[in-house]
Amino acid sequence: MEVENYHSASEDETNMLGRKFAKRLQAGEIVSLSGEIGAGKTEFVKGICEQFGVESIVSSPTFTIINQYFGYDEIGEELTIYHVDLYRVASADDLAEIGFQECMNAENALKLVEWPENAGDIMPMADWEVAIGFDGDSDNKRIITVKRIGN
Ligand SMILES: Nc1ncnc2c1ncn2[C@@H]1O[C@H](COP(=O)(O)OP(=O)(O)OP(=O)(O)O)[C@@H](O)[C@H]1O
Ligand SMILES: [Mg+2]
Repeated sequence: MEVENYHSASEDETNMLGRKFAKRLQAGEIVSLSGEIGAGKTEFVKGICEQFGVESIVSSPTFTIINQYFGYDEIGEELTIYHVDLYRVASADDLAEIGFQECMNAENALKLVEWPENAGDIMPMADWEVAIGFDGDSDNKRIITVKRIGN
C-alpha cells in the first residue's frame, strides 16, 4: 500500500494539495477523509471540487449530510461529486433514510466522505484514505497522509 505524507502550513496550501490530489481521481472512486474537527477535511474537499470546476461554494454539509455538486472531468464530461459529512449520523437507520448506500454505489460520481467511521459496517471500502492531523502546537500546520487502497 502506497502512503504519502504532505505538509501544509495554511488553508491555501491544503486547498492546493486538494487540487493536486484531484488530478489522480477517477469517477466512481470513494475518498474517505479523517481527522478531528477543524483539521481541514472540508478545505481539502474544496480544493478537489475547484479542480473539477465546481462553481457553487462548497461549505461544510454538516446539516445536509450529503451535498451534490457538478463539475467537469479532464475531457469536459460532467462529473457529479458527492460531499458527504457523517459527523451527525448516529445510526444505520439515519444512513438508510438519506440514501447513503445508493450514493456510495453511484458509479459515475466521485464520493468524498468526512467522518466515515460514523457509518460503521455500512461504509464501503474507500479507494483513497486521506488523514489530516494537526502538526505540533501550530494553529496552521497540518500533516496530510494519502493512502491509495488496492491498485
Ligand atoms: N493548514 C491548514 N489547512 C487547512 N485548514 C487550516 C489550516 N490552517 C488553518 N486552517 C483552518 O482550520 C479550519 C479547517 O476547517 P475545516 O472545516 O476544513 O475542518 P474539517 O476537518 O472539515 O472539520 P469538521 O470535522 O468540523 O468538518 C479552517 O477554519 C481553516 O481556516
Ligand atoms: Mg468538514
